[in-house]
Amino acid sequence: MPNDHIPAPMEGSSSFAARESLHVKQLEAQTSALRSSVICAFNQLLDLKDLNTGVHSTRLAEWGMRVGRELGLEEAELQNLEVAALLHDIGKVGIPDSILRKPERLDPEEYALMKKHSEYGWAVLRMLPGFERAALDILHHHESFDGKGYPAGLTGAEIPVVSRIVCVIDAFDAMVSSRPYRKGLPYQEAVRRLNEASGTQFDPVVSFAESEMSPVFAAAGTSVSSAL
Ligand SMILES: [Fe+2]
Repeated sequence: MPNDHIPAPMEGSSSFAARESLHVKQLEAQTSALRSSVICAFNQLLDLKDLNTGVHSTRLAEWGMRVGRELGLEEAELQNLEVAALLHDIGKVGIPDSILRKPERLDPEEYALMKKHSEYGWAVLRMLPGFERAALDILHHHESFDGKGYPAGLTGAEIPVVSRIVCVIDAFDAMVSSRPYRKGLPYQEAVRRLNEASGTQFDPVVSFAESEMSPVFAAAGTSVSSAL
């Protein structure tokens, strides 16, 4: 029986295996570096659009990882959470500045356009290999636990857990952060509002400890007192 299609035994096959393993490790490192670069580049884009949003995203990623670990999320899901927290508002690059920066309340038409940002973010991120799951988590980061959110009106566990986490910490961070046109809420008031909306707007399982606040702000290069 001809066996010319069977590869000849390699001389020193253990060193061949070692070289293969090294090659796989190098490819994994390259993929990981590329992934990090893409995240950083998109985050820079957010900074260019609105610096405050960029810092907000960095803080959210730090906070999200702490909440995710507390909830026992697996490593792959934590990686998606980090991306979703950092880039949840990437779709805002497609929203006109006249709406993004409007200090007054948005009219219904403007609000409808603003709500498109989660779909815009999904549409961009889903095209990148390895970011498909995070794109879906971003798509649903404005769903409400009681089904009154957007874009799909999902309820409870229908909403991806990463989206539920981003939703809570995003709302909290927005409440305590000061804007040019309004001062952030005191921490305790923000916590009270979160608790009030727990089970309606927010997943009651997602919470975080007050002790996390300072380390989170410090890790994002800000301090509680400068941000509030
Ligand atoms: Fe958003």
